[in-house]
Amino acid sequence: MHSVLSHPLVDHRVALLRDRATPPKLFRELASEITEFLAFEALGDLRTAEIPVETPLKKTTGRKIADRIVLVPILRAGMGMLDAMLRILPYAKVGVLGMQRNEDTAEPIPYYAKVPPAQGDELAIVIDPMLATGGSACDAVRQLRKLGYKRIKFLCLISAPEGIGKFEAEFPDVPVWTAAKDSYLNSHHYIVPGLGDAGDRIFGTL
Ligand code: PRP
Ligand code: URA
Repeated sequence: MHSVLSHPLVDHRVALLRDRATPPKLFRELASEITEFLAFEALGDLRTAEIPVETPLKKTTGRKIADRIVLVPILRAGMGMLDAMLRILPYAKVGVLGMQRNEDTAEPIPYYAKVPPAQGDELAIVIDPMLATGGSACDAVRQLRKLGYKRIKFLCLISAPEGIGKFEAEFPDVPVWTAAKDSYLNSHHYIVPGLGDAGDRIFGTL
């Protein structure tokens, strides 16, 4: 299952994010803002528990988030979404997965993994701005499954139909949330129209 966020506030920011003239500072701010909107939509089914609350007028009840959450950015570009996720989920744990695409084949090459094993029914939220061939996302979810995670969501800013197709075929039970579903991958496995290399644009390494 995949969902494409459709909202004027998101579309406006995605257009600026794509613009080649957008400098890294603004790119990072836009990526963060879009991530917050994505998370708002994607986490509507978080479990909550009732808590007592005393207002200045009366005792009442409220709800607090009951899910334990592990955020999993795929290095390095996933770091561009982490601050926003931690802002809205300040008690989440963080695990990281390092992956670099082979420039010729686009196969992901895992180079680092530091994710706490699942202890129960935690929700793992994988974050990466780009879902292109789907190789990195699928590898990440495979690693999380081996660590015992059963509940997983994948959040990205821009996706390609090829990557969504591959991901959904292997993980039909892992929902994908994206701010834009683009047209196709070019011969270098880049998303078109896309935004170029997300990592380079976040870290200013173009
Ligand atoms: C980018 C992006 C994803 C991956 C997506 O990372 O951040 O992780 O490519 O492509 P895929 O769907 O074809 O696997 P990249 O390998 O460029 O590394 P970086 O984040 O270190 O720049
Ligand atoms: N990774 C990126 O950063 N951009 C793409 O278009 C594809 C993979």
